[in-house]
Amino acid sequence: MKRILALVLSLVMVFSLAACSSGGDTETTAAPETTAAAEETTAAAEETTAAADETEAAEGTEAAGGDTSAAQGMNVGVCIYKFDDNFMTLYRQELQSYLESEYGATVTIVDGKNDQNEQTNQVQNFITQGVDVLILNLVQASSTEVVANMCKEAGIPAVFINREPDEAEIQRWVDEGIAATYVGADARQSGTFQGEIILETENKGDFNGDGVVSYAMIMGDPENIDAQYRTEYSIKALEDGGMQVEKLFEQRGDWDQTKGQELAANALTQYGEDLEVIFCNNDAMANGAKVAIEAAGRVVGEDIYLVGVDALDETVGYVAEGTVTGTVLNDHVGQSHTAADVAAQMVSGQTVETKYTVDYVKVTQETAAEMAAE
Ligand code: BGC
Repeated sequence: MKRILALVLSLVMVFSLAACSSGGDTETTAAPETTAAAEETTAAAEETTAAADETEAAEGTEAAGGDTSAAQGMNVGVCIYKFDDNFMTLYRQELQSYLESEYGATVTIVDGKNDQNEQTNQVQNFITQGVDVLILNLVQASSTEVVANMCKEAGIPAVFINREPDEAEIQRWVDEGIAATYVGADARQSGTFQGEIILETENKGDFNGDGVVSYAMIMGDPENIDAQYRTEYSIKALEDGGMQVEKLFEQRGDWDQTKGQELAANALTQYGEDLEVIFCNNDAMANGAKVAIEAAGRVVGEDIYLVGVDALDETVGYVAEGTVTGTVLNDHVGQSHTAADVAAQMVSGQTVETKYTVDYVKVTQETAAEMAAE
């Protein structure tokens, strides 16, 4: 079962890479790369049983590159928007260990402390030091243009991660021959999966049977497209599934657990029994909301639903026991490995795609139990 799941995940990822390849303008050898990736991924999925599914899924991207021997021992500068973020902590730890083990890289990671000015200075310092490549999780996606130009001036390739720049900026890299790429996931998919999780419950999110799903939305940083899309597409999925919706509450919790708890507590106090579903743009905030729900004497699955995104270990445990309705795996392993592999390809002088996306995976009580057991 695990092998089959791993294979499916791997192939899904290969196909999403193939889709990106055909959509891009700057591509080189997308078709043969994809074939090679598919073959190797199949082999990887068949021969490994112990590795986590998402790790195997990542093998597909690893195989997608050409010869990266020139990247061995590369010097990598990594900027993270802030260290105090649950998901980006997992991401950066995996990124560092993979860069070191696969490429013998020297990796320096700095904390942007959620301050774009500070982070722009950090980028400048890396440029002055002459790193071979930069991996960048910007504080503000809207600063991508400025940072991409700094890297271009210095002749240093840039791999932007996690916070997707707008399409016009990505097109500019193509038009102006800027050595930059984006590695992330399509946040619309994660929102859709959240909505579907609610649709798959026995009452489709409508506990009081009035034909309307009355919900609260706890958002991440709204500057971030992940927050915008998850907010929009979770509700769109409910509507596409034939449900009427009523937004009772929507506020920004900035991806933060404590804020998630406070906001959920406010929504529960304000709307009481009328509140049927709490959507959180990520798991950190959902973990906070879970505490608030319990403190308010409400019971997930019995009189309210709660969903998040990321599949943090803690949240997967809650989903397995039924105290959180569901979450969506945001594959930090696949994304960090892809970012590292693409960085190595750029350092080796290869032309790469302008965008790589790794699929999200829905996590419900059934699949969470399996994940938690592993
Ligand atoms: C994750 C959040 C994280 C954010 C940081 C999102 O993709 O789901 O948990 O806080 O990225 O930018």
